[in-house]
Amino acid sequence: MSLIKSQTFSPITSNLKGRINIPGDKSISHRAVMIGSLAKGKTTISNFLNGEDCLRTIKIFKQFGVDITINNTEVVINSLGYEAFVEPREPLYFGNSGTTARLMLGILAGLPFHTVVYGDKYLTERPMDRVVLPLREMNAEIDGRNNGLLLPLAIRGKQLKPINYKIPVESAQVKSALIFASLFTDNHSVLTEKALTRDHTENMLNAFGANIKTNNLTITVEQKPNLLGRTIEVPGDISSAAFFLIAGALVPESNITLLNIGLNPSRTGIIEVLENMGADITISNSSYKNGEKSGDITIKYKKLIGTNIEGKLIPKLIDEIPILALLATQADGITIIKDAEELRVKETDRITAVKETLTTLGANITETSDGLIIEGKSKLNGGEIKSYGDHRMAMMGIIASLITTENVTLDSIESINISYPTFLNDLNKLARI
Ligand code: S3P
Repeated sequence: MSLIKSQTFSPITSNLKGRINIPGDKSISHRAVMIGSLAKGKTTISNFLNGEDCLRTIKIFKQFGVDITINNTEVVINSLGYEAFVEPREPLYFGNSGTTARLMLGILAGLPFHTVVYGDKYLTERPMDRVVLPLREMNAEIDGRNNGLLLPLAIRGKQLKPINYKIPVESAQVKSALIFASLFTDNHSVLTEKALTRDHTENMLNAFGANIKTNNLTITVEQKPNLLGRTIEVPGDISSAAFFLIAGALVPESNITLLNIGLNPSRTGIIEVLENMGADITISNSSYKNGEKSGDITIKYKKLIGTNIEGKLIPKLIDEIPILALLATQADGITIIKDAEELRVKETDRITAVKETLTTLGANITETSDGLIIEGKSKLNGGEIKSYGDHRMAMMGIIASLITTENVTLDSIESINISYPTFLNDLNKLARI
């Protein structure tokens, strides 16, 4: 059993300055391993995020018999393609990773194996019906707890049927699971989203040779593509960069450049919000690789004003809402976040967790059914806060401690390893500690 230790963070006494690289994008790293393993041939992934979630995905494909080697952030996959996979001898463990869970269900449903899958105590409470129900419409055989709607689940791979489906939740994980399942059918499938969610699965599958067409919110997936291994360079994760973008906007006289960050338009809601709040933010050196845009982002400290975050913007910044809520406590005026009920089924209920954490620190914040209302600007004191086993809540608490008047004690920082194992090192580099 690991020993959970609390840690105390003191307010910063300097500004934040420097240029740093941010670890690879979590969503893209997962997909590179999945698609590189399904494909035939050699796939080389650079700047892979070697956090706990993405390492779970690697372990699963090793259980299928795929040859995968990892050397720090370089991953090499040698695969004979999914037809050569073997039936796993042991249950597959998804840990804390919702992306591994949802996307793997779409893949497992179409492979000719029996698999048992499970997760940690947090993932075990997160909804799987959003994937299981449409997969069953495609002829998938999935059963388990709560009639097969919660982990642990057992999957008996079957010949799947194509689907024409309107996705009722704004979720790239659901979309991606159904795209993967559609690859194993014998005709094309059509999926329609309610709002644009991240499209890394579509981009990467097409880079590997698939035929996926997007027309506004409608995605057409051609079955049985011939996927061939290739080289993937993962850009820095904008959801990890978010913590330093906000730190730079919060700490007076800061000037930070984050290098080679993924700028896929389905992920850049945080930049739109920072601009709406009056931030001094610039993008330079943009380029495209494998259908994904990236570039450098510079942020300088500036006084900000409150804003509204709602509607189609929400899926473009869904993981950044905890850290944006912290920023809003320091902006003049009211910030309203709504249409974000999905936050209640993330690694923890992030609406309640953000409200509790920022209230403890002294913010003026109200919880609503689908969001938060934050009245700035308020002085943040120190205090004892929780991570809720949620990496993004833990990192938000640490960034908050930079600008509190007293120390902040966080019950555990262990969860940071899920998406950003080098977070404290990078923060220390910028703070020159
Ligand atoms: C992800 C999609 C989002 C996001 C998660 C990663 C992905 O979840 O919150 O961190 O990689 O597809 P939903 O698609 O369920 O909103």
